[in-house]
Amino acid sequence: MSQRPTPSLAALGMANLSSVTPPLMKMSLILAITSLLCRIVYNLFFHPLAKYPGPRLRAASTIPFMYALVIGQHHEVVVNMHKEYGTVVRIAPNKLSYITGQAWQDINGHRKRTEPEMPRDDKWFTRNPNGPDMVYCSREEHRRYRGLFAGGFSDRSLRSQEPLIGGYVTSLINNLARRVKERKDTVFDLVTWFECTTFDVVGDLTFGESFGCLETGEVHPWLRSMSDTAKAFQVIRACQEIPLIGQYSTTVLPRIFRVGVIKKSQEHFAFTEGKLRRRLDRKEPRADFLGPILQKPDGKGLSYPELLTHSSILILAGGDTVTGACAAIVYLLLQNPDKMEILVNEVLTTFQHEDMITIDSTSRLVYLRAVIKEGLRHYPPVPIGIPRTVPEGGSMIDKEFVPEGTSVCVSHMAAYQSTLNFERPDEFCPERFLDTTMFSDKLDVYQPFSLGPRNCIGRNLAYAEMQMILTRLLYRFDLRLQDDKFAFGSQRTFTGWERPPLNVSLIAR
Ligand code: HEM
Repeated sequence: MSQRPTPSLAALGMANLSSVTPPLMKMSLILAITSLLCRIVYNLFFHPLAKYPGPRLRAASTIPFMYALVIGQHHEVVVNMHKEYGTVVRIAPNKLSYITGQAWQDINGHRKRTEPEMPRDDKWFTRNPNGPDMVYCSREEHRRYRGLFAGGFSDRSLRSQEPLIGGYVTSLINNLARRVKERKDTVFDLVTWFECTTFDVVGDLTFGESFGCLETGEVHPWLRSMSDTAKAFQVIRACQEIPLIGQYSTTVLPRIFRVGVIKKSQEHFAFTEGKLRRRLDRKEPRADFLGPILQKPDGKGLSYPELLTHSSILILAGGDTVTGACAAIVYLLLQNPDKMEILVNEVLTTFQHEDMITIDSTSRLVYLRAVIKEGLRHYPPVPIGIPRTVPEGGSMIDKEFVPEGTSVCVSHMAAYQSTLNFERPDEFCPERFLDTTMFSDKLDVYQPFSLGPRNCIGRNLAYAEMQMILTRLLYRFDLRLQDDKFAFGSQRTFTGWERPPLNVSLIAR
């Protein structure tokens, strides 16, 4: 009797297909490997960026770039690549990183209305489902947003905001002083205390109420969830680099991280909404970020979804950065007791009473201003380069033509740590900002708040907060470093820094 084929396969006409599948698979595999090899050869030898210096592996494939992003080492790898290869490095097949003042102007600088700006790199940013926002939007939309927020960040508003800022700094100092007096704590994690202060300040300036962090001495879980989300976005950012399927990562990946990111972002959204609604219910005029916008006639201000989105942006942009800067500056001062002594002397000889410490009076402390600048050079709160895309027709960057579609950036940390720009860059030396003739530094590259139309809108507020926090802390306490957990070399970055504790003991003066 003849053997019948398996009925199911025969019925479906698949008996032949099963014998065809292995060669088909083999063919596809060979095709995939061949096209990958062709891509690598093209990237290495025929790509328009092939002439640029950088590691061969980085020129061949985007994978090392993606890996460094995901493990939080992107900033450090780029620093080292610039040390080895100079002012411009090919950090991925289609990406260039620069560390010159000219590149800042060419990439981020102001453009005439008739000239195209270098838009944000679409692979770096994630489109907000509620619509555009100040950080990721077209040039026209950006102009509108900056115009609307200008009032809340003006010098006049900052003067009106001073009692509010000063109040939270007083609360920080009183909290610490009480705990020192009651011997409740002997060692303080200043990162947490700075977070409590800066988030309460921006919380109040955004929503008209603080997060209550200084009352409890703990950072609100809503704020913690923001940094978790930042890490998840780094994974999405890396996946957006994958050819063909990368564009779907914004929609697919959050579903995979469902329990984490989506649940957290939903909670986050609900919490923001509650706070925003309470702010909108307050009818009296208020000199905060939203005050001038809410006074605009209907249709001229921001829509409700836009208010929601921007509230979150302001909290994250304003809290994390100032916290990191204050912590890093204290750490650097404690590592350099001679510089600490000069600063403490400046503070104690200038002020006979704590009430004399204001935004205005601290801005006249020349050594403090130099310390802050040097601190931001060592530990820029935005340590990496935020990439732009070269527009149609290509552009000149650092006197070289760069083809359209190239992703380009100036990397903060790499620019400030390079011997090509700074004399003895590893030394903490505020004096370099006091007498600029003493050092052969290229200060045009130093732009911790970025440059051009999309630079930091909160620069003056950030300086005001840093001056007030640092001056009042040093006026009241003598500080001692307890351990080296805050060492910069051990910190990872996910756009901003993942800050470990800064453990310090405080002795009342
Ligand atoms: C030491 C503190 C700070 C540093 C070093 C800093 C740095 C920066 C940098 C480098 C950018 C440009 C990023 C880019 O190229 O995309 C930026 C943008 C921005 N910063 Fe800050 N920042 C600080 C504090 C603040 C504060 C206190 C606020 C206020 C809430 C703030 C709000 C913003 C906003 C809203 C943007 C986006 C501006 C735009 O796209 O037009 N920042 N910041």
